[in-house]
Parts: sequence; structure tokens; C-alpha cells
Amino acid sequence: MKTIIYYYTGTGNSLWTARQFAAEIGDTELRSMVQPDQPANETNVVAAVPDIVGIVFPVHMWGIPHLVLEFLKKMEKHPSCYYFAAGVNAGEVSRTLVQLKKVLASYGLTLSSAFDIVLPSNYIPWGGPGPVERQQALIKITGEKIKQVAAMIKMKEKYPVEKGPLWQRIIFTPLYKMTFGVIAKMDQDFWVDEKCNACGVCLKVCPVRNIVLQAEIPVWQHRCEQCLSCIQWCPQQAIQYGKKTPGYERYHHPEVNLNDIINAISPSPSQPEK
Ligand SMILES: Cc1cc2nc3c(=O)[nH]c(=O)nc-3n(C[C@H](O)[C@H](O)[C@H](O)COP(=O)(O)O)c2cc1C
Ligand code: SF4
Ligand code: SF4
Repeated sequence: MKTIIYYYTGTGNSLWTARQFAAEIGDTELRSMVQPDQPANETNVVAAVPDIVGIVFPVHMWGIPHLVLEFLKKMEKHPSCYYFAAGVNAGEVSRTLVQLKKVLASYGLTLSSAFDIVLPSNYIPWGGPGPVERQQALIKITGEKIKQVAAMIKMKEKYPVEKGPLWQRIIFTPLYKMTFGVIAKMDQDFWVDEKCNACGVCLKVCPVRNIVLQAEIPVWQHRCEQCLSCIQWCPQQAIQYGKKTPGYERYHHPEVNLNDIINAISPSPSQPEK
């Protein structure tokens, strides 16, 4: 039995989640949804039809990120497969997985199970990830949940898609729709402080090649996905967003490193590392 898990990640929570599922399910290939430098027709070819397909991604603004929606358009589709999903979030999954079920149905695919996976927040404009002990406790609890639900996935059991409480769906569904169109330009609030040494790491971790170095200063190109990879992975902590981030802790999943993120987006960008 062969499983393919497609993942998208900014700070590693979704990659870690995908890895945990892969370890539990067995015989699983992990594939990044992000291949910005690859011709579109070469990114989604699978050698043999899998039995199980997983879709693992972070919840952004209470819904599915734009990049994931674009990936789903191109993904090879196999109506006979068992599809499952994990919406990785910081406590407000809202209607994301219901949205995914509808999107897949529009492609003739059935989402047989979908899970609310809560991990520390990477949304630094609203604050840091919280105390390390709390992060570790959350990662442990979520790891246990993944073990439980992976056993169901392995048996191809159907399970209703998980969703946030009604109040979340009422308040946040319109906010998702309102913010969706402006995300690309939200990068205008990024800036770099004097710690920047023009190392080029931010270029390498950006899934949409939205950053260029001009006179050794990173400049954002307004096609941002707001994954927050650049600000969270900058080795100098030189990237800021708005006024408050100089005082906030950076975050990435403790079992995911910078190379994992760069490799998920390979090959390297056009501007070389300094
Ligand atoms: C732009 C943006 C929007 C987010 N919106 C939500 C949200 O609506 N609900 C939520 O619970 N977490 C939200 N988060 C937090 C992430 O979903 C969460 O930290 C996730 O684990 C990050 O996964 P990653 O490390 O794979 O990128 C948001 C994060 C970003 C960057
Ligand atoms: S990763 Fe940080 S230090 Fe390196 S170029 Fe980007 S902003 Fe500057
Ligand atoms: S510019 Fe930063 S936040 Fe925007 S898509 Fe690239 S890495 Fe993500």
C-alpha cells in the first residue's frame, strides 16, 4: 500500500505533522507542494496511483492558503484513492477543512477524513509562540492525536471533517474572504534592521520567490503568501513586521531545520548566497 502526503509549511509545523503521519502509516512518500522553479507540468506526476493521499498545510486567516488552492488545481487526481487532510493551526481551524472538502468535491474527489492539528503559533505579528514548556506540551499532545488518527487512516476509515466551534465559523469565515485578496500585498509591513548581513537565506526560504536583494538589502515584491518563513528563519532576526516584532520571540518547529525548509523549495533561487 502506497501513500503520498503533499505538504506545505512555513515554519515546519506542517512538515513535522506530515512526517509523523508518514512514520505511523508507513510506505509513504512526502512531497512538497512548493516547487517555484520547476515547470508546472513536471511538479505533480506520480509514478503509480497511490492508495492513500494526504494533504497537510497550515491554516492561514481561518482558511486554506492561496498557494494550497493553486496546488490543488494542478494535483494529479485519483477518485479511487482515500484522501485525508490535516489543517495545522494555532487553535482556530474554523471552517478550513469544510472548505477543503468542498474544493476536493469540485474536482470529483472525496475527503474521507480531515483533522484539526494544533501546534504553536507562528503568527508573529500577534506575538511569540509562548513559553517553551507550553510549546513542548502541545507538540506532545498533538503527537498522540496523530498516532490515534493515523491508525484510522491506515484502515481507510471514514471520519467527519473536524471544524472549529460555531462562533469561529460565524466570525472568521467572512474575515477569510475579506483578507484573501489583500494577502499578496501584506508584505509592505516587512522591513530589515541593521542586523541584516545580506546572507540571502530569506530568498531561499520564500516559497514564491517574493524577495530580491537590491544593493544587499532584501526587498519584498508584493506577491507574498504570508507564510512568515522569511521573518522566522532569518539567522540574524533582522526581519521585522510592523512595530512590535523586535520584541517577539521567533519560532520554528524544534525538529525541523533550515535545510529542511530550503530543500522543500529547491532548487536554489537566482540570486546567490553571499
Ligand atoms: C498568515 C497566517 C495566518 C494564520 N491564521 C491562522 C488561523 O486562522 N487560525 C489558526 O489557528 N492559526 C493561524 N495561523 C497560525 C498557523 O496556522 C500555525 O502556526 C501553523 O502551525 C503554522 O504551520 P507551518 O509551521 O507549517 O507554517 C496563521 C499563520 C499565518 C502565518
Ligand atoms: S535572511 Fe536575514 S540577514 Fe539574511 S539577507 Fe535576509 S534579512 Fe538579511
Ligand atoms: S515573503 Fe516571506 S512571508 Fe511572504 S511568501 Fe515569502 S517567505 Fe513567506
